Amino acid sequence: MELRPYPRPIPYGRQCIDDADIDLVVETLRSDFVAQGPQVQAFESELCEQTGVKYAVAVSSGTAALHLSCLGLGLGVGDLGLVPGITFAATANCLRYVGADVGFVDVDPLTGLVSAKSFSKRGKAFFPVSYSGAVPDLEGISKAAAGAGAFVIEDAAHSVGATYGSGSKSASCEHTDAAILSFHPVKHVCAGEGGAVLTNDKVLADRVRRLRTHGVEQGERWLYDQTELGFHYRMTDLQAALGRSQLAKLPDFVERRRVLASRYQEAFDEEPFEGRIRTAPIDAGSAVHLFVVHFANEQERAKAYDFFHQHNVRVQVHYLPVYRHRYYGDDGHEAMPGCEAFYATCLSLPLYPALGDEEQEFVIQCLKAFLLENEG
Ligand SMILES: Cc1ncc(COP(=O)(O)O)c(C=O)c1O
Repeated sequence: MELRPYPRPIPYGRQCIDDADIDLVVETLRSDFVAQGPQVQAFESELCEQTGVKYAVAVSSGTAALHLSCLGLGLGVGDLGLVPGITFAATANCLRYVGADVGFVDVDPLTGLVSAKSFSKRGKAFFPVSYSGAVPDLEGISKAAAGAGAFVIEDAAHSVGATYGSGSKSASCEHTDAAILSFHPVKHVCAGEGGAVLTNDKVLADRVRRLRTHGVEQGERWLYDQTELGFHYRMTDLQAALGRSQLAKLPDFVERRRVLASRYQEAFDEEPFEGRIRTAPIDAGSAVHLFVVHFANEQERAKAYDFFHQHNVRVQVHYLPVYRHRYYGDDGHEAMPGCEAFYATCLSLPLYPALGDEEQEFVIQCLKAFLLENEG
């Protein structure tokens, strides 16, 4: 029987907001502070508790967090930052914001992750991305960075709530100089929009805090002094209230994502999926932000994308390699066989805590129908 489109769109990711979230935002709206009040500070303390890091500075987006990390670490003209080819463009753009150069590095063709080997080139800063919620070998990468005299900034936009190695937490900065988070609605913790810089270095945290508010230092009474050129990258109390309420549910969100991911894995171990699509083994510590399947080739992936969309399943491709964007010119970098192979075949299936069992079953049936229709 022909599969009919799902009655409503199933996105690849979305926020999961409940009454407790709404109540805290409304309470904040009724309070004396909606912008720079107590919620931002409380959110920052709770981020420290959840990740085990010493300092967290909440900002207006993950992109702002990347920009301020670069400025805070003193990256600028003449410096080279190394960024995986497979990531969201913001990971590379932050280097351009400060006048630094971007060097792209290759990733594993199945997991999309970098390794210590990816960072064998010299650079002033390495940006390992915890792609899809799985944390790369930050310990090995930090050793490579120490040898090269480079900073390490974990782009943990996908991985808050994840663990790696012998139980280290993503964004704890146990092996990195800084980490950044994003609180965009598709991420684990939604604050509407928002981000944070995390670090164990007080000097860096203080500088980032200053830079997020114009580069200003508060003096006595009415006096304040702008000591360097900063930005208006502050988070509001409304965003922080939502972020706090969401963060309290992070362990449950990650657990639900893991249950959904295992369900996909189990289904795909059988006919007709087995041998037709490939998935990376799910790391036990992964926060499973994305569930990525790989098709046999680019043509099949494109057909599958269209088939899903025709059936109201809004799968997505994460990501077009950043060096392929027109702005980056697709030249001046070495061959990236891992990034190319990854990009050619990857497709992210719906995965978010509020994804219902029935919706997930439809996604599985949709993929099954596609594979049966396109046999041989
Ligand atoms: C890997 C990665 N880094 C950085 C960002 C930027 O975060 P934001 O959208 O909060 O600026 C994103 C957001 O999509 C991301 O996926």
